[in-house]
Amino acid sequence: PSMNTKMWSSKMVQANIEKLKDAGYEFMEPASGDLACGTEGKGRLPAIEEILERMEDIFTSKDLTEETVLVTAGPTMEFIDPVRCITNRSSGKMGYAVAKMAKRRGADVTLITGPATIEFPRNDIDIVHVTTACQMRDAVMEHYKKAGVVIMTAAVADFRCREENCQKIKKKGDSNYMTLELEKNPDIIGELGKVKEQRIIVGFAAETENLLDNAKEKLKKKNLDIIVANDVAKAGIGFGSDNNEVMIIEKSGKAKQVPLLSKEEIANIILDSVKKALKNKKRIKEDWY
Ligand code: PMT
Repeated sequence: PSMNTKMWSSKMVQANIEKLKDAGYEFMEPASGDLACGTEGKGRLPAIEEILERMEDIFTSKDLTEETVLVTAGPTMEFIDPVRCITNRSSGKMGYAVAKMAKRRGADVTLITGPATIEFPRNDIDIVHVTTACQMRDAVMEHYKKAGVVIMTAAVADFRCREENCQKIKKKGDSNYMTLELEKNPDIIGELGKVKEQRIIVGFAAETENLLDNAKEKLKKKNLDIIVANDVAKAGIGFGSDNNEVMIIEKSGKAKQVPLLSKEEIANIILDSVKKALKNKKRIKEDWY
């Protein structure tokens, strides 16, 4: 409803809205701002995009309500000195899309994000901010225990500077070269694979060659249930783009080619595979007992 603030806040209108809510109607509160009558306050029609999002929320079947999903997204940033860093081109879009769709389908979602610059997917998701790979590792280890599903889309830096310089590094001498000594970062998903128990763990593989073989190797080596292979050398997909094209590979070796789609659509297809894996796991557990 959109109307003048006084009408919106009148007891009669509010009582009628409550009655309709009790009868199962969904309401979207009006937005605040300039009103048609020249005053300011609550009563504006919300932005059309917000209305569409809310409608998608209402009409999407809630098939993940029993699940707690932990998602990692974005790049990590490793400092060289106070002004320089090592990072990568991940925007966070893929991970944010996964978090948003999991929430839309009813899951309880926690999103651990590196320093991405895009808007947060929605305001009803728990968000944990991290900068470095070590911070992401600590955040994942703190939150994974309550999650039944972990989806790692983050582009984690494999190395950090061995020494962090407290002062800006100055150019020294006439040499055109300088050497940075790097140290391995923790392999977060590998660590998770060792303590996964009944959890479903989904990894992403960003590859520029031998997509399928490299992804399959990571799936096996890191004890994952699903790996999403992403050809990051192909234009228009992967890092930074709104769309993606991936191969979803299951533990059984079964691979599904997903054509060029929006990252939100890809996220939903990944979540369908997660649902299938959860079902299989539950079935195996029931057969066992
Ligand atoms: O953010 P966008 O701009 O939307 O881009 C999306 C994306 C290209 C970043 C995403 O689709 C993607 O491919 N993410 C994986 C990036 C990556 O780091 O791939 P990898 O093959 O290096 O790592 C394999 C897996 O191990 C990943 O799940 C990664 O999160 C995890 N990893 C990697 C390194 C490390 N030290 N610890 C990890 O847990």
